[in-house]
Amino acid sequence: MNKSPIILGIETSCDETAVSIIQDNESGIPKILSNIVSSQFDIHKEFGGVVPELAARSHVEKINLIAKKALDESGVSLDKISAVAATSGPGLIICLSVGLNFAKSLASSLKIPFIGVNHLEGHALSPRLQTNINYPYLLLLISGGHSQFLSVNGLGSYTRLGTTIDDALGEAFDKTAKLLGIEFPGGPKLEKFAEKGDPNKYKLPKPIINKGGCNLSFAGLKTAILRITKYINSEQEKYDLAASFQKTIEEILYIKSKIAFKEFLKNPFEEKSFVVAGGVAANNGIRKKLTEVSNENGFKAIFPDIKLCGDNAAMIALVGLEKYKIKKFDNMDLEANPRLALDASAKFLKGSGLIY
Ligand SMILES: Nc1ncnc2c1ncn2[C@@H]1O[C@H](COP(=O)(O)OP(=O)(O)OP(=O)(O)O)[C@@H](O)[C@H]1O
Ligand SMILES: [Mg+2]
Repeated sequence: MNKSPIILGIETSCDETAVSIIQDNESGIPKILSNIVSSQFDIHKEFGGVVPELAARSHVEKINLIAKKALDESGVSLDKISAVAATSGPGLIICLSVGLNFAKSLASSLKIPFIGVNHLEGHALSPRLQTNINYPYLLLLISGGHSQFLSVNGLGSYTRLGTTIDDALGEAFDKTAKLLGIEFPGGPKLEKFAEKGDPNKYKLPKPIINKGGCNLSFAGLKTAILRITKYINSEQEKYDLAASFQKTIEEILYIKSKIAFKEFLKNPFEEKSFVVAGGVAANNGIRKKLTEVSNENGFKAIFPDIKLCGDNAAMIALVGLEKYKIKKFDNMDLEANPRLALDASAKFLKGSGLIY
């Protein structure tokens, strides 16, 4: 086995075609040799959301080009690649299949291992591309499709402590943005709107804030915002509503994180690290608020660099590298799994009726 393995990672689970090449390093923090992300915003913009068929077609058109770009930028030739890793789930099945099939073909033609990666595990481990963090650590994963508190016990070992019972946080940002007339994907732009508004102008609900442990709920916020948008006219009122939404989310995450800290500390631990990852972890207000709650409770808050919060292939290559080191390879018959979970034993939770 190569002493400093080089992994080519591929990500095509939704609307980003991404390829990255990373190399293992004695420091324990791998070197990112290239990290190419091609987003499809322009393709989906007019539909206000991702259209799976268009996304898959774009992946097919671009994957070769993006892989070549990643190789060129890394300066690594194909014969130096140790293994090919690709997202196998969760995500849109026709999109996942493009990256998976490309990875399998490449690995078999190069006669090197092929490794399937859980996209969420990529997000979960993403800060390890920049810093050494010991297991176990507490993770808040906030992305376009998921919002969960998990104990990260080690590679492939997760215990879910809480999850959203309806919308994901990224979804709540995008839906609120849409109601405010902000074009898709609205999350990052909503944050900019919020900076110009009065966060105390509108009082918004904080669903299940006093029950359900560290489970989360955001759907009620969307309904409240829909009601208010019917009565607002000026741009300033839109900024005020965005600011009130941003503040409400920060307060929900502050309170729920405190509960998650207690849940996490029920098990023996060595370091109190709190990792916040996924696309919404790019939000500056949330980063500030969660740093505050971490400091107050003796936790160290850790965020991936902004460019590693959203979907990227470096995080997929990272999980691939960890699996490569323990020779956890996959067979060519590995199928895409649109519902792949981090904690497969956690029970299904949808709807407030399931919350105690
Ligand atoms: N600054 C920001 N503030 C709030 N939300 C943001 C910000 N930047 C990105 N987002 C949101 O993050 C989400 C995208 O994150 P990500 O790419 O991790 O999601 P995904 O891959 O679609 O979902 P998943 O990872 O759950 O499968 C979008 O909903 C987007 O609006
Ligand atoms: Mg993602």
